[in-house]
Amino acid sequence: MCGIVGYIGHREAYPVIVKGLKRLEYRGYDSAGIALINHGMKLYKKKGKVADLEESIVGKDVQGHIGIGHTRWATHGEPSDRNAHPHLSNDGSLSMIHNGIIENYALIKQDLIKKGYTFSSDTDTEVLLNFIQDIKQNNNSTLEEALRVALKRIVGAYCILLIDQNDPDTIIAARKGSPLVIGIGKGEHFLASDATPIIEYTKEVVYVNDYEIAIVKADEIILKNLGNEKQTPFITKLDMELATIEKGGYDHFMLKEIYEQPDTIFDCLRGRLLTHSGEIRMAGIDNNLETLCNAQRIVIVACGTSWHAGLIAEYIFEELCRIPVEVEYASEFRYRNPVINEGDVIIAISQSGETADTLVALESAKEKGAFIFGVVNAVGSSIARISHAGAYTHAGPEIGVASTKAFTGQLAVLTMMALKIAQAKGTITHERYSLLMKELEAIPEKVKEILADTSHIKAIAEKYKDAPDALFLGRGFNFPVALEGALKLKEISYIHAEGYPAAEMKHGPIALVTEELPVVFVATKDSYYEKIVSNVQEIKARKGMVIAVATNGDTVIPGMANDTMFVPDADELVAPLLSTIPLQLLSYYVGVAKGYNVDMPRNLAKSVTVE
Ligand code: AGP
Repeated sequence: MCGIVGYIGHREAYPVIVKGLKRLEYRGYDSAGIALINHGMKLYKKKGKVADLEESIVGKDVQGHIGIGHTRWATHGEPSDRNAHPHLSNDGSLSMIHNGIIENYALIKQDLIKKGYTFSSDTDTEVLLNFIQDIKQNNNSTLEEALRVALKRIVGAYCILLIDQNDPDTIIAARKGSPLVIGIGKGEHFLASDATPIIEYTKEVVYVNDYEIAIVKADEIILKNLGNEKQTPFITKLDMELATIEKGGYDHFMLKEIYEQPDTIFDCLRGRLLTHSGEIRMAGIDNNLETLCNAQRIVIVACGTSWHAGLIAEYIFEELCRIPVEVEYASEFRYRNPVINEGDVIIAISQSGETADTLVALESAKEKGAFIFGVVNAVGSSIARISHAGAYTHAGPEIGVASTKAFTGQLAVLTMMALKIAQAKGTITHERYSLLMKELEAIPEKVKEILADTSHIKAIAEKYKDAPDALFLGRGFNFPVALEGALKLKEISYIHAEGYPAAEMKHGPIALVTEELPVVFVATKDSYYEKIVSNVQEIKARKGMVIAVATNGDTVIPGMANDTMFVPDADELVAPLLSTIPLQLLSYYVGVAKGYNVDMPRNLAKSVTVE
């Protein structure tokens, strides 16, 4: 997600835009830029935060009453000055900022290069901008008409602001899939990705809809659809305060990020999981498929929640690809002088891409000749750069210290990766491959179904919030989910929680079970179901309190449990993407009930850049 701000009116645009970008930095902050029109186009952009941009502009000409600004969360092209937005068209007359992904940009770029266009960045945005210039020149049309033609030919999501130095009284905006809000002022208008930069100037806003184009002047907004038909702008009044808006109306970033998961999982699959053609398209894998298929061993290296994603990946890769997998805590792997053989594939999993334990582990593995594949959320991060290849999880900035949407993004990427390798190796039947593609495609809607009503989870959290300890148990694919649930509860509510393989309880830990100990079972319908029913009975026989995650429609587990959180049915291989959601919410609501700062828990940091 990127931050977008535009201004046109009687004020100096620069201070309005810079302040607005700072309010949007939670959306992405690897580079920033601004374009202004005042007797010609002036464009400044810089890798780093908005403050770095400001510092680089000191003493420069920043006058002008019209401008656009952008703070980037990279999707195409690593964070750098040249990849920062705004971009400039080849003829230097147009400047544009963009939030979203243009999926068919590569073909468009090839065509433009044949026509003699040059590109100074790796971004899809610069391709779209020159596509618009090309159409405008070839059709001898207005900028608005050229934009309309271009938008009908691209595939993907966008929120764009476009300015033309030959028309300094107009900002043209358009959106599909990425949000755009226009603030209505007196003789001025404010445009932004959300209301955060706008609310201090006006509470009257227009939310632009998908497939709409807005022609914005200081004293006029014209809204049209892609069919060039005028639309009536619907003005609403913001009734939120600034502080809550940065969280999109949620009380905490963690809750916002839990609720973003239907969209972030969809974004992770978008353009990659092509069920209609039966293809999984991931450049980092496509370009290294032979290496990955010939791997004698896969070693997964990660920390914390990412390590749990690695454990689930172990079950998935071994079942589908029949390649031996080892999952290592990065910190242990690093200092154990591990045996690394030529032909080993190391998969590094990291949300931040900056975790020192993981990064250092990779450096030593790379020195020993291993092939490094990075599954990372932060584009252009250190782990992404040190990897030979990789795949981004596209979950957007994860602000809450407890990892939620990045975790499900990791699972989505790893599942697609295993499916692609298994198909190439012939270790999966066509039927199972097709079934699992459809199962994965259905996950965003099933997550949405879980999130539709979470009041019962909140009630369960309040019921057990004073427990001194808790156990989380699961089997098979759900065993790592139990570990992850325990970590979430520990780091958010400070309750001592332990995850364990359910069958392992009888080898000692069952001695802990009393009437005061809540035992959370991740017990969805799968090939381990009958076994886990027995494990629940073992706990009940000792008067333990059971909280279950169960499959919709199941009556056996809920019949034994004290409390149950339901999830939709799904193939066991993708079920963790669902069974983890109630546990994220459980830890969140317990932490809130205990009055803790769930976004910044004590002693923790979002990215652990020390070993
Ligand atoms: C997860 O909720 C924690 N914040 C922590 O365990 C985290 O997963 C771990 O530090 C790894 O971080 P990374 O994914 O950015 O490498």
